[in-house]
This record gives sequence, structure tokens and C-alpha cells, in this order.
Amino acid sequence: MSQSQVKTAVITGAAGGIGKELARRLAERQLNLVLVDLKEEALKTVIEELGLNESNSLAVAADVSKEEDVQNYVNKAVEKFGTIDYFANNAGIEGPTGLLEEQSVKALDLVYSVNVRGVFLGLHYIIPVMKKQQSGAILNTSSLAGLMGAPGMSPYIMSKHAVIGLTRVAANEVASFGIRVNAVLPGTINTRMMRQIESNSGNANSFKEANEAATPLGRYGEPQEVAAVMNFLLSEEASFVTASLYTVDGGMMGQ
Ligand SMILES: NC(=O)c1ccc[n+]([C@@H]2O[C@H](COP(=O)([O-])OP(=O)(O)OC[C@H]3O[C@@H](n4cnc5c(N)ncnc54)[C@H](O)[C@@H]3O)[C@@H](O)[C@H]2O)c1
Repeated sequence: MSQSQVKTAVITGAAGGIGKELARRLAERQLNLVLVDLKEEALKTVIEELGLNESNSLAVAADVSKEEDVQNYVNKAVEKFGTIDYFANNAGIEGPTGLLEEQSVKALDLVYSVNVRGVFLGLHYIIPVMKKQQSGAILNTSSLAGLMGAPGMSPYIMSKHAVIGLTRVAANEVASFGIRVNAVLPGTINTRMMRQIESNSGNANSFKEANEAATPLGRYGEPQEVAAVMNFLLSEEASFVTASLYTVDGGMMGQ
């Protein structure tokens, strides 16, 4: 396959639990990968672990909440590989745990800056690239927290509801350009993020056990299990799927 036929994927939060496993799946398809995260060092480790090299990958350190950083990762991707065929708009933070009256405006703004402004900015700068190509697929990472309310994480829950709204708007705006936009909604997944949420709860073990008991499959999911669904949505296998929400939650939402 000539380099010009090789498709390119951009993944934000690529040094994290789910992002790295998605990168692994997309690397198996021989895609060019643009890996975006806060720290270049962490991305270099992923590149090494996945056996990628300079010709098929690019690490771009960026804070997705900063407009100039987003512009930069999009420009760098296009400069190096020419197209952006797939975009996993995945970076996110959990923010603090606490009841509404305990949450601060500062915490709300921080969570929103990454989980909502970051996702908006990714769409804002990548959609024009895909429109020019008249093709592309975008996958926003929301959460089961985008559909459900639960006590204690209002900024995160609000932000993930917003990602669903953004997904639906974007999907409707770009469908006629041959671009698909979907959202993946993981439940409780074994990554750093759940370890932090467990620890914030004040009793990590009982919090985890309660979550497992509330899940029909009786356990947390693994990042590989989320990446498998993301891999499908970011492929031609999903050519008739857009504006859709895919839960990967061991059955929690279906109860
Ligand atoms: N783990 C879960 O149970 C779970 C459940 C539902 C949704 N999610 C969502 O999945 C996505 C990935 O989470 P994860 O579980 O892999 O967590 P993670 O903490 O392992 O990975 C998140 C990654 O995002 C990066 N990141 C954070 N802020 C950033 C910023 N401002 N700019 C660039 N990168 C930034 C982090 O450095 C990290 O590498 C997130 O959007 C998260 O909200 C996770």
C-alpha cells in the first residue's frame, strides 16, 4: 500500500488506559497514528511499547483545553500525513468527588475545560479537514455518566452529557459531507481514572464492590474491551453508523 493510501488516525488522551489500547488496535490495522496527550514522554513510551516508528506515528504534546494546542496537533497531523481519516476525541478528566454544594466553580471550570471545551475544539479544527476530504469518522468519548445521574460527580456527569449533545450536533452537521460522528459510553473500566474515583470515594474497596455488584456482568471492563468497540466505529465496518451512542458497560444501562 502506498503511503498516500494509508489512513491516518488522531487519538487524544493516547497515553491513558483506553487511548493506548485504541492506539494498539489501530496500529494493528497499519494506520498512521497521531498520538496526543499532555506529556510527550508518556507518548514516546506508548510509541515504543506498540512498536511504532517515525514514519507511521507522531507524538504531539498538547493540552486539549487550549485552542492553540489543538490547532497545533491538527496542523502537525496534516503536515506529516496529509489527511485525518479517523479522530478519537478521547482525553478526559474525572474531577473531584463531592456533593453539589461541596463542588467549586473552579473544579467545574477545570472539568469543562478538558471534557467539553477540549472535545468542542477537536471537532472545531478537525471537521474542516474532513470536509475538504469529503470523508472521515469521529468518535467522542462520553461515558455512562453522559446518560445517568449519580451523586457526587456533578462536573464530570454534566460534562459527559454535554459530549452527547456535541456528538449529535456534529453528526447532523457533517453527514452530508460523508463524515460520521459517534460516541462511546464506557461504564466502569479498569484504568487510572477508576482507581482515582475509587480512592476519592473514601473507601476504594467497597466502592469497587458496589460498582461490580451493580453491573450485570459482575465486573469492571478492561480498556481493551472499550477499544474493540472504538476500533469498529473508527472503521468502514461502521459505514452506516452515525449519531449513535455505544455503551460498553457490562449491561449496566440496560437494567
Ligand atoms: N475509566 C473509566 O471507567 C471511564 C468510564 C467512562 C468514560 N471514560 C472516559 O474515557 C476517556 C479515557 O479515560 P481513561 O479511562 O483512559 O483514563 P486515563 O486517565 O487513563 O486517560 C486519560 C488521558 O487523558 C489525558 N489528558 C487529561 N487531560 C488532558 C488534557 N487537558 N489534554 C490532553 N490530554 C489530557 C491524560 O493525560 C490521560 O493520558 C476519558 O474521556 C474518560 O472520561 C472512562
